[in-house]
Amino acid sequence: MDLGLKDKVVAITGGTSGIGEAVALAFAEEGAYVAVCGRSEEKLSRLKKKFEELGRPLYAEAADVGDLAALERFVRNAAAWQGHLDVFINNAGLNIRKYFEEYTPEEFDEIMNTDLKAVFFGTRYAAEEMRKCGGGAIINTSSFTALIPSGNVAPYSAAKAGVSNLTANLAASLAPDHIRVNAVVPGMTVTPLTEKNIAKNRETMLSAIPMRRFAAPDDLKGAYLFLASEVMAGYVSGISLVVAGAKFCAQDAAYGWKYRASEECRI
Ligand SMILES: NC(=O)c1ccc[n+]([C@@H]2O[C@H](COP(=O)([O-])OP(=O)(O)OC[C@H]3O[C@@H](n4cnc5c(N)ncnc54)[C@H](OP(=O)(O)O)[C@@H]3O)[C@@H](O)[C@H]2O)c1
Repeated sequence: MDLGLKDKVVAITGGTSGIGEAVALAFAEEGAYVAVCGRSEEKLSRLKKKFEELGRPLYAEAADVGDLAALERFVRNAAAWQGHLDVFINNAGLNIRKYFEEYTPEEFDEIMNTDLKAVFFGTRYAAEEMRKCGGGAIINTSSFTALIPSGNVAPYSAAKAGVSNLTANLAASLAPDHIRVNAVVPGMTVTPLTEKNIAKNRETMLSAIPMRRFAAPDDLKGAYLFLASEVMAGYVSGISLVVAGAKFCAQDAAYGWKYRASEECRI
């Protein structure tokens, strides 16, 4: 099915690794012009090479989204590249795992600046560009910790809860401008952000996921394509789309639900 994404300009913060990279490649496959930013020149070069091999155009810029001037520059440059900005994905994110009494004020600020403040201002800059062309779609990457906090990630959870709230809030504010704002809420996905924690706590973490597997970055891409597509989601705005292997559906997921009528489910 044609999602209507061909020749659209899709700008993704943190598009150089993990979920953002999988999403960048998925939009490229749909024929979109993809723009990404990230801090590491090495990751940017690696992605440029991948796009060259695919024969797809890429605009790649080194920018720290916690630096609002750099974030704004990236948004304006991505819009100027082809003369329009159609989809903006606030995806860059980082996490520091600690007991809450151990965070320094600087660490707290770094998490908030990257995971929440950049979403607020990135949306503002992107909306300014989208208004010039009659509308667009903004997609924020939230997290399941926004819904049910997990241990030792208090500032990250709070920032992501803020992202989910901002999503609804800004969807209403931008609806008159034909700009849709939605969020994707990934479940536990194997990326550089999580691989150490997964390696350490694999079985405990898996026991909370009824599907009994972690997501791969590719498991997320359909949600972003759907929310970006006017054809598929033209009337969808303000939602947080959970892609988490039924993680929130079972209060006793560890116990397992593979009963048969003849077995122990007879009470
Ligand atoms: N993996 C999961 O299980 C999971 C679950 C829920 C939500 N998420 C969210 O999904 C998003 C992507 O995470 P991921 O798992 O794909 O992690 P990842 O592989 O570490 O990718 C993070 C991306 O963000 C960029 N980034 C980080 N801080 C940045 C900054 N200050 N300025 C610009 N770019 C920055 C990174 O590039 P540089 O390092 O070069 O800057 C990288 O491209 C994040 O928002 C994360 O919170 C992930």
